Parts: sequence; structure tokens; C-alpha cells
Amino acid sequence: MTCSILVGGAWGDEGKGKCITYLCDNDKPDIIARGGVGPNAGHSVEFNGEKYGLRLVPSGFVQTEAKLMIGAGVLVDPEVFYHELEYLSKYKVAERVSIDPRCSIITPEHKERDVKSEYLAKKIGSTGSGCGPANSDRVLRVAKYAKDVPELEDYLLDVSLATNEALDNGEDVFIEGSQGFALSLYYGTYPFVTSKDTTASSFAADVGIGPTRIDEVINVFKSYITRVGEGPFPTEISQEEAEAKGIEEYGVVTGRRRRVGSFDFDLAKESCRINGATQIALTCVDRLYPDCARTQDIQDLSADTREFISQVEQETGVPVTIISTGPDLKDTIDLRDELL
Ligand code: GTP
Ligand code: IMP
Ligand code: MG
Repeated sequence: MTCSILVGGAWGDEGKGKCITYLCDNDKPDIIARGGVGPNAGHSVEFNGEKYGLRLVPSGFVQTEAKLMIGAGVLVDPEVFYHELEYLSKYKVAERVSIDPRCSIITPEHKERDVKSEYLAKKIGSTGSGCGPANSDRVLRVAKYAKDVPELEDYLLDVSLATNEALDNGEDVFIEGSQGFALSLYYGTYPFVTSKDTTASSFAADVGIGPTRIDEVINVFKSYITRVGEGPFPTEISQEEAEAKGIEEYGVVTGRRRRVGSFDFDLAKESCRINGATQIALTCVDRLYPDCARTQDIQDLSADTREFISQVEQETGVPVTIISTGPDLKDTIDLRDELL
């Protein structure tokens, strides 16, 4: 019985999608439960040669034996949910996904308020997915719950009860966080943050699992940092420099060009502390060090790459257990056995 939480270490888009897919395909957890804010997230999943962009349904859907759940803390946009059921029909997601009846609903009006707000859309650079206004209605206690939407009736399940019972029965539960540490409403670069805390403790609460039941917190970092939207970014480099290094990027949800920067050891240290990280997954190592593209054995990494990885471990005090060297699941070095 293991309960693991995967979190983003910086401003989101750390490659959580790939890490979740790898870990779920490899470890085959019985339940994969989504925590986090809501459909402002965009996870990229590449599996069996196909690419998927996901906003709400757990990215672990590729593990076809697993039950998929959306925890009470997550905002549900029924339009996004139905779209993803259709989009992932090949994986029989509709037959195994559940939503907690206490999830708050995003309405078209929330999306309009988000997009039309000068402050949210322009100053903060929100995703326009309605999450901020929906969470504010939730705080004001006027939001609608999933249990109030008749079309969602067939999908309702007490996710807290189901996940805790599964753990009691010796099953494995994997909690997917979304966004990233530096976007946390409490610990991020306020006010340029999202509408909720985005650390491991909140993701556990989103799903309804208490802190004493969590075994592993996997903190995902990309080997360089990206940020979409406005706000401070201490290690930012110019777009020209990013292009020269071949690390320019565009967002999954918004298509916006991402700001790019070098790895931030101070941020990584704080992120590991507040998340209580027990492991680090380091992605896109190949984009920083092209000579290690698709490498599957730690021994084959160049001296520079290994030096960078050990610096990450030294500065954070947390072991790097997963090294991602390419988009394919095979392009992964898994060092978790060495921890045992
Ligand atoms: P999260 O929001 O954290 O889930 O990240 P994301 O999945 O949204 O990341 P993003 O949208 O930036 O997409 C990452 C892209 O890079 C996807 O196409 C992934 O398949 C791919 N990718 C993930 N890990 C690696 C890696 O280690 N190396 C390379 N070259 N590509 C990767
Ligand atoms: P909101 O969450 O849509 O209100 O957006 C607030 C800020 O968080 C903006 O800067 C967004 O770009 C950022 N943000 C929210 N979710 C994500 C995510 O999943 N990845 C990257 N940035 C995000
Ligand atoms: Mg993303």
C-alpha cells in the first residue's frame, strides 16, 4: 500500500504529464486521483505514439486498469469534462472516472468574468478558464456543486471515502497535482499566482486524504524554468537566448509563448521544503544537454549532466530518482530502486 503525490516544483509545465504517464504505466496504481485547481492546467501526455493535451481528467488514464477520480477540491467545468470523455473514449475513461459530489462547478459566466476582467486577464495573465472567479464564488459560498448538476449524476462518488478505503485494503493511490509551487496562492509570487494553494498538502486535502497517510511526494522540475503569464521570474533569460539554446516553448491551454529561465536552485530548495518532497523527477535534461537525448542508463550521461543532477540533489537535499531524457516513456532513467 503506497500513497504518492506528484507536484510541480516551479510555475507549472514542468513535464508532470510525462512523469505521471511513466509512473502510472510502470507502477500500476489502483486509483489515480486528480488534485489541484481545475481546468486551468494543461498536461501533455505522449503514449504509444499519440499525443494528448489534458486539462481535467487524470493524466494517468493510460493505465487502463486504474480507477480515475477527481477530488472535491478540484473545480469541474462540465464542458471540458465531457470533451475529455469523448477525446479519451479509446481508453474507456467514461467507464472508470468519478467526480466527488463536492467539486465546485465552473459556469460559462465564470469563464466570461475571467476573460473580461482587465485585472485577471491582463495584469495577472490568467488562463481564462474561469478558475479564479469560480474559486471566489466558492469562498463566498455561492458556488454550485457537482451534485447539483443532473448530467453529472452517473459520475458522482465520495472520492475521499473511496481512496481511504482503497488504502485500508492495501491498494496503491496516486495523487496528481497540477500547476506548480511558485503559482501557490500562499507561497508563490503573489498576486501573480493561481487561485489556490498548489503544494502537496493541498493536493492531499483536495482528494480527502490526511497527511499521515502520504508516503511519497515527488517534486517535478524541468532542467530549466518556464513561466506563462505575468510576475517575477528571477532567473529569466531573453527569448533570443532561449531560442539560441533551443529551449523556447508554447503553452498547451493558451498557446502563449512561455518565458524561459535557467534552473533556480533557491526556488527548488524552498519548493522541496514546503512540499515535503521525498524525491525529485528532473525532466527535459536532453534539451539542456542534447548529448544525453534518449539516454536510458545513468552511466551513459555526460559528466556535465551528472554534475548538474548532483548539484540539484546537494542544494535541495532530496534525491533525484527520475531523469527524463526525451518525450517517450522509454526515455526515462528510474533510480528509485537504488533508494531501497
Ligand atoms: P505539466 O503542465 O507539468 O504537465 O507539463 P506539461 O506536460 O504541460 O508540459 P508541456 O506542455 O511543456 O509539454 C511538454 C512536452 O515535452 C510534451 O510534448 C512532452 O511529451 C515533452 N516532454 C516531457 N518530458 C520531456 C523530456 O524529458 N524531454 C523532452 N525532449 N521532451 C519532454
Ligand atoms: P489562473 O489560474 O487561470 O487564474 O491563472 C493565474 C496564473 O497562473 C497565470 O499566470 C497562469 O498562466 C498561471 N497558471 C495557471 N495554471 C497553470 C498551469 O497549469 N501551468 C502554467 N501556468 C498556469
Ligand atoms: Mg502544463
